[in-house]
Amino acid sequence: MAILVTGGAGFIGSHTCVELQESGYEVVVLDNLSNSSEKSLERVEAITGKKVTFYKGDILDRDILKKIFEEEDIECCIHFAGLKAVGESVQKPWEYYCNNISGTLTLVDEMRKHGVKNIIFSSSATVYGDPAQIPITEECPKGQCTNPYGWTKSMLEQILTDMQKADSEWNVILLRYFNPIGAHPSGTMGENPSGTPNNLMPYITQVAVGKLKELNVFGNDYDTPDGTGVRDYIHVMDLASGHVAALKKIKEKAGLCIYNLGTGVGYSVLDIVKNFEEANHVKIPYVIKPRRAGDIATCYADAGKAKRELGWEAKYGIRKMCEDSWRWQKNNPNGYED
Ligand code: NAD
Ligand code: UD1
Repeated sequence: MAILVTGGAGFIGSHTCVELQESGYEVVVLDNLSNSSEKSLERVEAITGKKVTFYKGDILDRDILKKIFEEEDIECCIHFAGLKAVGESVQKPWEYYCNNISGTLTLVDEMRKHGVKNIIFSSSATVYGDPAQIPITEECPKGQCTNPYGWTKSMLEQILTDMQKADSEWNVILLRYFNPIGAHPSGTMGENPSGTPNNLMPYITQVAVGKLKELNVFGNDYDTPDGTGVRDYIHVMDLASGHVAALKKIKEKAGLCIYNLGTGVGYSVLDIVKNFEEANHVKIPYVIKPRRAGDIATCYADAGKAKRELGWEAKYGIRKMCEDSWRWQKNNPNGYED
C-alpha cells in the first residue's frame, strides 16, 4: 500500500516524503512542478535511500489520476497540491479557484471512483481570519479571509466536510498549518520561493545571503509586546511528522477531524530577526514600513488537541528553525537551480 502525495515536490510535501519514507511508507508523488523542482525528490531519495515514484502531472487531469489509481495501490492521499501566493491570488482569483477548488474536486472524484476515501488536506490558520480568541483552538469560529487563496482553503474545508457527512466511508483530516519555516537539517532541502519572497523567513535568509538589501518590517504599531506582528512558527520537519501522526489516526477510521499544527508559541517579527542573528551570527538590517494589507496582529495556536488525539507535538524551537533555514539558504543560494 502506498500514500499518494499531491504537491510532493513542494516545500512541505518534499519534507513530508522524507518523514513518510523514514516511517516505512511507500510514497507516490503527483506534482505538475508549477512551483517546484523535481530535484527536491532526488534529495528526498538521497536522504532516505528509497525510491519515490513520481508522476509529473496535474490534479486537474483525470487521465493521470486514473492511471495512478490503476497502477498504484493507494490507501490514502495527502493533498498538498495548490497555489499559495496570497498577493497573486488577489490578482488572479480565477486561476486560484480553478486550480485549488476544481483541482481538489477532480482529485476526490477520482479517489472515490477508485475506492480510495482517505484524505489529509493542507489547510491553514488563515481560515480563522482575524481570530476570535488567542491562542486559537479548533473550536474557534472560521472568519472572513482577506484574499482568494484563503477562501480556497476555507471552501475546500467545507466541501470535504460535506462529502464526509454524506458518505461515512470517507475519512477526512483537515490540518490547519500555522507558519512553517526551517528546512531539513542536512541542508539539502528547503523552501524554494520563485521571485522575491512574500513570507518572512525566506526574505530574511535572502537578506542574510546578500540577495536582498534589508528586511521590510511591516508595521510596528500593532497591539503586541514590541508592536510587530506575532505568529506561531513551526519547523517544517515537525509539520512533516504531524502528517505521519495524522496517517495513523486516519487508519483508525477517523471520520472528520480537524487539527491545528503549530507550536503554541508566538514570536514577533523582531524576535525572529534577533533569534536568526544570534543563532547564525549574521546581521539582518531592517527598516520599519507601514502595515501590510490584510495582516493581523497576533496568531498562534492552542496545539493541545493534536497532542491529545494524535500524540503529536512540535519538538523543535525557534533557534533550530533559524539554524536550519540558514543552512539550506547558505548551501543553496539559488535553491534547487544550481
Ligand atoms: P509549494 O508551492 O512549495 O508546494 C505545492 C506544490 O503543489 C508545488 O510543488 C506545486 O508545483 C504543486 N502544484 C500546484 N498546483 C498543482 C496542480 N494543479 N497539480 C499538481 N501539482 C500542483 O507550497 P507548500 O508551502 O509546500 O504548501 C503545501 C500546501 O500547504 C499548499 O496547499 C499550501 O496552500 C498549504 N499551506 C502552506 C503554508 C505555508 O506557509 N507554506 C501554510 C498553510 C498551508
Ligand atoms: C501568510 C499569509 C497566509 C498564509 C501564510 C503561509 C498573508 C496576509 N497571510 O501568513 O494566508 O497561509 O503566509 O503562506 O499574507 N513580515 C514582515 N516583512 C516581510 C514579510 C513578513 O514584516 O517581508 C511580517 C508580516 O507582517 C507578519 C509576519 O512577518 O507579521 C509573518 O508574515 P508571513 O511570513 O508572510 O506569514 P503570514 O502573514 O502569517
